[in-house]
Amino acid sequence: MAKLVGAVTTSHVPSIGIAMDKGITQDDYWKPLFDGYLPAKEFVKELAPDVTIVVYNDHGLEVFLDRVPTFGIGAAAGYESGDEGWGPRPIPPFLGHPDLSWHLIEQLVAREFDMTMFQEMKVDHGFTVPMSVAFGGPAGEVDEWPTKVVPLTVNTIQFPLPQPARCLKLGQAIRKAVEAYPEDLRIMVLGTGGMSHQLQGERAGFMQPPFDRMFLDKFAPEPEELAKIPLGDYMKSAGHEGAELIMWLVARGALNDAREVYRHYHVSASLTAAGLGCYVDAESPHAAFAA
Ligand code: DHB
Ligand code: FE
Repeated sequence: MAKLVGAVTTSHVPSIGIAMDKGITQDDYWKPLFDGYLPAKEFVKELAPDVTIVVYNDHGLEVFLDRVPTFGIGAAAGYESGDEGWGPRPIPPFLGHPDLSWHLIEQLVAREFDMTMFQEMKVDHGFTVPMSVAFGGPAGEVDEWPTKVVPLTVNTIQFPLPQPARCLKLGQAIRKAVEAYPEDLRIMVLGTGGMSHQLQGERAGFMQPPFDRMFLDKFAPEPEELAKIPLGDYMKSAGHEGAELIMWLVARGALNDAREVYRHYHVSASLTAAGLGCYVDAESPHAAFAA
């Protein structure tokens, strides 16, 4: 049977990808952010997932405002980095796991999550930056991805967005679906986006460390408290795009009695408060990772 071995959550700011691709991660501006990623890379190596379910939002690369699925899953054999205006990222293509994708689609639809199916798709910074952060070397370098992937999209772009509580429940359904997969696979969930940031309007540049710290503190032990916060309050407290934190709740829902094994928080990466967390279930052999 497949096993959900852990979760990593991280911001997906495009400039973090650009810093890796340009080899400037050791510059004064970027070094503190990238140094803080090193323990997470060790943790991911220990987890050694065969497949990573990447929960992200497409920012207008694959779907635009005229057609936005609330929740979607990729079911392709592979995925490439798309061109968001500054060229595709110079990274290897990602290998998919179509059989697991179709299993997840069937299971999630049976559990009343009506997923849109993407039989081909390109992935944007929301997907590629967290993959480089989690699986790349110290400067993000990758020859070949050590995990297959299943992209799972959440609409955080076009109103109405799914509710935080619904996202937590989606994660719980993913857990059940994974555990019903007959092959022995190690599966990690990578939740992306956030933390506080707003890129547009009068409050462009808005960041709110006290809200982010509260979110990080409650994330493992009290996710239901976070799921109760209305979406509008996420936007007021964490900035309009801070609502991307609902994708962290999907990752959290995939764990049961979660333990935080590592956390990194850095203000700022461009105009975003950058956060990262590593989590396992209490009974996991990796629960002592941080000790
Ligand atoms: C930026 C874009 C994002 O999608 C995000 O989550 C954070 C920052 C940006 O363009 O700076
Ligand atoms: Fe984003």
